[in-house]
Amino acid sequence: MDNLIELILLKYPKNATENIIEILLQIQEAEGFISAQSIIMLSEHVGVQSSKIYSVASFYDQFVFEARAKFIIRVCSGTSCYISGSDTIISFLEKEFNIRIGEITRDHVFQIETKSCLGACAQSPVLEINGVFYSNLTPQRIRQIIHQCKSSLQ
Ligand code: FES
Repeated sequence: MDNLIELILLKYPKNATENIIEILLQIQEAEGFISAQSIIMLSEHVGVQSSKIYSVASFYDQFVFEARAKFIIRVCSGTSCYISGSDTIISFLEKEFNIRIGEITRDHVFQIETKSCLGACAQSPVLEINGVFYSNLTPQRIRQIIHQCKSSLQ
């Protein structure tokens, strides 16, 4: 992965600070997150302390600093979805993947999170996977969705 970061850094002049955000965006696209090692490499390239780079990056919500799964499943935990059975959906997913909320499967394919109201209360229960919304969920529908995710990896 270091080679990938080096290739990104080579596109930008050394000791030029105006490209830090753009470089961070490219690193995240390449790595899936901003690793500590990539911050150190960026720091050396632009001549800015790594703590300052981390401070800038952590200001923006779009940057993440831990490895993420290929599919991030966000189950709505808002009131309407809760009443419609979101806790059952969460239990189903935890059992299916043998992980708890906030955890990632060993193969880094699935991660489960909760999110307050996803804005589709009339179609509850709702979940979102990598920006795609799924509504009126049932365990059978969730099985189909998971199957589609797995199939897309082949
Ligand atoms: S409470 Fe779930 S979409 Fe609003």
